[in-house]
Amino acid sequence: MPSRKKNSPVQTSPRTPRTSPRKSPRTSTGTFTILSISIALISAVVYFLNSHLERFYIFSPSELHDLSLRAISTHGNDTAAVVAFIAGEMNEKFPGGYVNLDQEWIFNNAGGAMGAMYILHASVTEYLIIFGTAVGTEGHTGRHTADDYFHILKGTQLAYTPGSFEPEVYPQGSVHHLERGTVKQYKMDEACFALEYARGWIPPMLFFGFADGLTSTLDVPTLWRMTWVTGKQMILNLVRGKF
Ligand SMILES: *[C@@H]1O[C@H](CO)[C@@H](O)[C@H](O)[C@H]1NC(C)=O
Repeated sequence: MPSRKKNSPVQTSPRTPRTSPRKSPRTSTGTFTILSISIALISAVVYFLNSHLERFYIFSPSELHDLSLRAISTHGNDTAAVVAFIAGEMNEKFPGGYVNLDQEWIFNNAGGAMGAMYILHASVTEYLIIFGTAVGTEGHTGRHTADDYFHILKGTQLAYTPGSFEPEVYPQGSVHHLERGTVKQYKMDEACFALEYARGWIPPMLFFGFADGLTSTLDVPTLWRMTWVTGKQMILNLVRGKF
């Protein structure tokens, strides 16, 4: 490589062993430039998508609240029927597989709290699940890259923000909106179930969803089901053109 020899003083130095040539400064600069350009491009794409996330959403918090209220007024505390009502109507409104009708309940441990969920929809920018527990739980909400709307279908959820001295109380039929990037302590004293809708960037939230399972419960079959159902939904939705 004569051109390399000419441009690289390191290579021609008699003290450098020829068997293990060092990377020339030129190559490092090239790598650095490519890396910088890549980071800048990715940042620009993320920034652009972030400011246009709205156009990828198919669900709306006000419609989901209305649906929750109608489900409760039709079926009261028969929560199984409330869930079936919600899944059925969502599927009618969004035909074509956007709503998962295979009601599989999967345990979820996150932020110290424990409950189970039925994943109705998962894509890159939205998820819709029924989350709850029949025995109560308490924990950290997690700091998320998405807005979270927790529609209480049964029971009551309490929430606490540092600095306040009274709990926020979310009874049946109310919505607890946890704004993107904010955190709270939450508690369900007794049985509580909710229709949870998150919109924003969903993949980063999965780290929170998996953390307790990977570092505490080590419940591999549960982690596997969550990975399988979430992954399948996200990929099938992408194939459908739902980002
Ligand atoms: C559900 O049960 C609770 C507790 O018994 C009660 O306060 C509430 O009114 C019931 N909700 C409906 C919709 O029947």
